Amino acid sequence: MTEGLFITLEGIEGAGKTTCMDHLRSLLEQAGIAFLETREPGGTQLGEELRQLLLGHKHTGMSHDAELLMMFASRAEHLQQKILPALDTGQWVLCDRFTDATYAYQGGGRGIAFSRIQVLEDWVQNGLKPDLTLLLDLPVELGLERAGKRSAPDRFESEAMEFFDRVRQAYLELSRKEPERIRIIDASQNLEAVLAQISSVVKPYLQSSIR
Ligand code: TMP
Repeated sequence: MTEGLFITLEGIEGAGKTTCMDHLRSLLEQAGIAFLETREPGGTQLGEELRQLLLGHKHTGMSHDAELLMMFASRAEHLQQKILPALDTGQWVLCDRFTDATYAYQGGGRGIAFSRIQVLEDWVQNGLKPDLTLLLDLPVELGLERAGKRSAPDRFESEAMEFFDRVRQAYLELSRKEPERIRIIDASQNLEAVLAQISSVVKPYLQSSIR
């Protein structure tokens, strides 16, 4: 049985994950909660090396299955080395993307059946899921416009608009299946309004952690 709370942040490119992560971090710090902040793919030395392979342009034509398996290889290492030990000692875990991203990108985006992804999820996670997922949702055009103002696109950011449309729809489908866990944040609003939505979703969890 785990004790800490496992919170993940999801969304398409340009949704504002970095700013929202900053906000989540300060909410937890203010509440005096010990937490691990991490990301996927990545979070461990092996995971960060896999991230370079997955996001870089060296293997542009990698097979969809290889991409999927590398996401789960990174996740298996991350769970064993970082996430489970933190949760077991009562720390919270704040993770920038997790398995919902696999359903959205490899499932929705690449077209791999959800049932195949589920096999790997069951194998690697053995029933563990985030307690709370904040899905930053916004129209794809707006996200790509915002993301386009940043540095050179990685292997995923180089995909076409239709790819991100499928990613967004898959995320929304996941949230319809698990509305209690996956909470939609309207990320098309101005920054202040987005952060206020995050605070109102997270605050009840912070209050219930005060014993
Ligand atoms: P980001 O964390 O900077 O957004 O970049 C990670 C990229 O990796 C992003 O484009 C989404 C993608 N990704 C997947 O395709 N599948 C996954 O399971 C995860 C965790 C990320």
